[in-house]
Parts: sequence; structure tokens; C-alpha cells
Amino acid sequence: MKAVSFDRYGEPRDVLGVTDLPVPEPGPGQVRLRIRLSPVNPSDLLYVRGHYSGVEEHFPSGAGFESVSIVDKLGPGVEGLTVGQRVFAHNPDGGNWAQYAVVPTLLVWPVPDDIPDEQAAGFMINPATAILMVRHVLAVPAGSWLLQTAAGSELGRMIIRLARHDGIRTLNVVRRPEAVGELKNLGADEVIVSTDGPIDEQVRKIVGEAGVDHALDPVAGPTGTEVFRSLSENGRMLLYGSLTGQGISVGADPRLTLSGRRTLEVFWLGYWLPRLSQLGLTMAGLIEEMSTLIRAGVLENSPGERFGLEEVVAAVVEAEAVGRKGKVLIVP
Ligand SMILES: NC(=O)c1ccc[n+]([C@@H]2O[C@H](COP(=O)([O-])OP(=O)(O)OC[C@H]3O[C@@H](n4cnc5c(N)ncnc54)[C@H](OP(=O)(O)O)[C@@H]3O)[C@@H](O)[C@H]2O)c1
Repeated sequence: MKAVSFDRYGEPRDVLGVTDLPVPEPGPGQVRLRIRLSPVNPSDLLYVRGHYSGVEEHFPSGAGFESVSIVDKLGPGVEGLTVGQRVFAHNPDGGNWAQYAVVPTLLVWPVPDDIPDEQAAGFMINPATAILMVRHVLAVPAGSWLLQTAAGSELGRMIIRLARHDGIRTLNVVRRPEAVGELKNLGADEVIVSTDGPIDEQVRKIVGEAGVDHALDPVAGPTGTEVFRSLSENGRMLLYGSLTGQGISVGADPRLTLSGRRTLEVFWLGYWLPRLSQLGLTMAGLIEEMSTLIRAGVLENSPGERFGLEEVVAAVVEAEAVGRKGKVLIVP
């Protein structure tokens, strides 16, 4: 079979290539998948760069955490799945950018028939993150403001639609002025551009001097620091990415640290999925909640350009192109 692989961390365009490998055999508790579509997500590229702590270092390594696939072979003793079934699969080591992959059955979930492949390919990472952050971890009440950065990302757009659906007002930060109108059309209440001035000053002009009670940031760096400065004295912020590759500073301003009880919390889906019961959820319930919202267009992925395995370098370049439209998909 053909598979994308790399044998050292580095820039994805420099280290990714396609190799011929034997079709893998599933062991006990595992299933072999024939991959249909796999998205290129920021976490895939973080892993290739060696910046993703969720996977132990192993080389040569595959890439690609999510996919919609067909069950091709069951390992010894595996029950509850059938050959030929269409499933969503999380590949914990990366490796879904390949014709076949072997993954633990615990990370394979049948997809409802009416959810098309383009939606099922990105079924878990972004939709589950949107639901868990907004509804269950921050638990933003209807009527209040939710501040978010990288609002034009696939996940940011889902958050805008989910917030609108739940009666939450969104205050969205983008880096490109061209994105403002697009996000307003999507249902964003307010959109500000990070280059128009410090985010906290822009936010207070809109929501008032008290600041916001809830914020989400995957950008970090100066943007994340300004988001922390936008919080009200009881404000809570989830940091869920580092698109700048930089840290954020919360202690530099004594006016923020010697008053109130602002909270900065890291959000990682990989932490929460095995702990759903702490949020009063089950995996079956979460899948039902996601499916309903995908069908309603609220948590819909917008499919972008498609690339074959041999075109993986073009795919990863397109995935990080400024102003890219839709989620890039690998079609093995
Ligand atoms: N913690 C978790 O469990 C978890 C789960 C899912 C996703 N995430 C994170 O969520 C974020 C969005 O994911 P996605 O799949 O929606 O990504 P995506 O569709 O690829 O979108 C990336 C977005 O980030 C913006 N961006 C890129 N670099 C930036 C920078 N240096 N400063 C400001 N904005 C920047 C881009 O802006 P332009 O539109 O201007 O190009 C684009 O809108 C990623 O950081 C991802 O790692 C985290």
C-alpha cells in the first residue's frame, strides 16, 4: 500500500513523503481500515513538526489523525464492528494519510448513513471541541458574550454558528479585514481585526469596561495575552492551540493579577474524551449531539481542496495558506 511517512520532525513540506509499505495486519482489539478521506488539521502539522505532546516519538511515522474509512478486516476476537461498515476513526499515532491503517477498535465509531463522507472525515476533532468548550467546559450562558480568536478557522466558524444556535453573542477576532463581512454573514455579532489596535481596548469599546466573562484562544502570543487582558474580573479563558507557536503572558500586568479571579485553563480534546463522564456526558450521547448539529448545518465542515497521497506536500502547503477556504482533504 501507499502511505505518507516521515523519519524526522521538521517542516511538513520538507519531511513528508510517500512510501510503499505492506498492508498492515490487525491484532487483538484492533481493526484494519480502508481510508476514504482524511482532513489536514493543524494538529497533524504540529505533530510532524514535533510540537504535539499527545503522541510518543516514533520513526518512521505516519501522519493524519482523523478519517472516514471502511472496516476492511477485524483483529482476532473483535466484536461490535463488521467488515464493510463505514466508520469515523481516530488514529492515535497518526497514519490515516495512507490507503490502509490499523487502529484500536475503541477509537472507531460507526457514522450515521446520512452524514456524507466530507462531514464524517472531520467528525470528531472540531465538532467535539466546539461542543465541549462552549457547552460543557466553559458552559457559556445564553445572552452572554463569548470572545474568540482565529474566528475564521473551520472551528471558529462552527463556534459562531453554535453560539448563535444557543443564544450566545460572539465577539470574534480575525487577522484579515476581508474576513469580517464573511463572518458577519455567518451570524457573528461583532468582528474585530487584531491589527486595528490592542484587542482588549477594542473589546471594552463593545462590551463595556467590565470585559468579557468567557474567551477562547488558539493563537497565543501577543493575541492570547490581549485576550487575557479582555477578561472581566471573574472571566475564564480556554487556551486550546498555539497558532503563533508562542506563549502568552498573564502575570506581567499587576492590575490583572492583584484583582479579581481571572482563570486561564488549557483545553485539549485528548484529555476530555476519556473523561466525558466528569462533564455528565457519554460518547454515544456526544456522537448523537454532534450528528444532530451537523445535520442542522451548525457544526458543518466546509470541504476544501482534495489531494492524493502523492500530492501531500501541496496539500500541507494549501492547508496553511492564508485565507484558505474549507478543510483540505487527503483522498488515498
Ligand atoms: N485543543 C484541542 O483539543 C483542539 C481541537 C481542535 C482544534 N484545535 C485548534 O484549533 C485551531 C483551529 O483549528 P482548525 O482546524 O479550525 O484550523 P484551520 O481551519 O486550519 O484554520 C486556521 C485559522 O487560523 C488562523 N491563523 C493561522 N495562523 C495564525 C496566526 N499566526 N495568527 C492568527 N490567526 C492565525 C487562520 O487565519 P486566516 O483565515 O487569516 O488564514 C485560519 O483562520 C488550531 O489551532 C487547532 O490546533 C485544538
